[in-house]
Amino acid sequence: MRIKIVGLVSVLLCILQAHGSSILSPSDHEHSPELSSLLEWLKQNGATVKNVKIDKVRDGGLRGLVATANFKAGELVALIPNHCTVDVGHYTLPGAELAVQLLWRQLEYPEWNRTFEPYWNSLPQWGTIYSKENWNLDPDHLALFQEPYLEHYVQVNANWTRDAWAGVAATDKEKQWPHMAAKYPREAQRIPYEQFRHYACLTATYTFVFPDKNQVYQRVMVPLLDLVNHYGIGSNTFVTKNPTTQAYHMVATKDIKKGEEITHTYNMDNERNDYAALNYFFIQRLDPPRLCSIDLPEGHLDASFPEFDDHYLPRDKAAILAHVDYLETKLKSFPTTIAKDDNLLSARKSKLTWLDRRVIEFRKERKWTMQHWAKILRERAKTAYSLHQMTDIEANHNFEHTEL
Ligand SMILES: *[C@@H]1O[C@H](CO)[C@@H](O)[C@H](O)[C@H]1NC(C)=O
Ligand SMILES: *[C@@H]1O[C@H](CO)[C@@H](O)[C@H](O)[C@H]1NC(C)=O
Repeated sequence: MRIKIVGLVSVLLCILQAHGSSILSPSDHEHSPELSSLLEWLKQNGATVKNVKIDKVRDGGLRGLVATANFKAGELVALIPNHCTVDVGHYTLPGAELAVQLLWRQLEYPEWNRTFEPYWNSLPQWGTIYSKENWNLDPDHLALFQEPYLEHYVQVNANWTRDAWAGVAATDKEKQWPHMAAKYPREAQRIPYEQFRHYACLTATYTFVFPDKNQVYQRVMVPLLDLVNHYGIGSNTFVTKNPTTQAYHMVATKDIKKGEEITHTYNMDNERNDYAALNYFFIQRLDPPRLCSIDLPEGHLDASFPEFDDHYLPRDKAAILAHVDYLETKLKSFPTTIAKDDNLLSARKSKLTWLDRRVIEFRKERKWTMQHWAKILRERAKTAYSLHQMTDIEANHNFEHTEL
């Protein structure tokens, strides 16, 4: 589930590359007219946004929200009224079905759609954000993962978007594009697949999950707050919805200094790079480092592994050694080493696109973390008990006890 939830504070994390909900292509600029218009529009519509600005926040031109005044813990950082937000559909729906609903709404209510123009314009343009919903399915690109399971995972999801567009996905017909498009044949014709899959990515990644007036959990587009970058443990705000006014409040969870970046936690699943890369197209190195969920014992992408790695790693000697063996065998099986990946990334005349590079950075980071844990676990195995030993000791103890 890609639910954005509140993060609690404590340990500092070292972000290698957090490109959360505001991935920028190298060509994007800070302080663009689109973003100034967004702030103007929000102010005119009753939002509280006076002590924040949108700015470049990290190396590489990543865009984010920055405090322009000091905030105390518990203070309101920004408030977005409900009428400036868009409920796009039930939170369990995939991006493709949400895209259908968003497009339908834009077509059904052209007046409403026009009033949201400053918000639509503030969103990333086609080709600047990726997620499993609109991933590039070129086999050469997918092979860069060096991991069949991830290739497959991306294919299943991106294929779903394509199938919902074609009307052949295995779900209700009325949730798919041809059914909606039939209601507005002329207008719908002007909408290309590129836009549809971009919307599928946006509705999956640029949305929050909150209950509506009837307590039904929805995917919600919340202007401005969707520009705030993810930070796991240690983020400085959370977003909450006022049950009476239905407005969205971004509240400081600790003191924030003027000039500091404002962050919140989308969800703790993003603290694992396979989840973050596939769902939000960013990766990070944390302290302590975290394995990909697929590299945890019995780990996979469809469950949540929010705790630190030690919570999931074995304690029994035999199980520790088995996991070391998994990590080392896997490391040996990769077609390239970390050094080779580095060479590829730094090669001068590289033909790699920025999408390719992100995947290579991902696999490199994955390998590094696997090496890191293999080393620690190998050490740990030296002093660990084996369950067999423990059973022996217990058995002896019980035996002696019985004799008495
Ligand atoms: C909604 O409004 C935007 C901005 O005015 C416009 O570009 C877009 O085509 C409209 N969407 C539809 C489906 O008409
Ligand atoms: C995705 O679609 C392509 C093209 O139809 C197909 O070859 C591939 O097997 C599909 N992948 C999955 C995992 O379903």
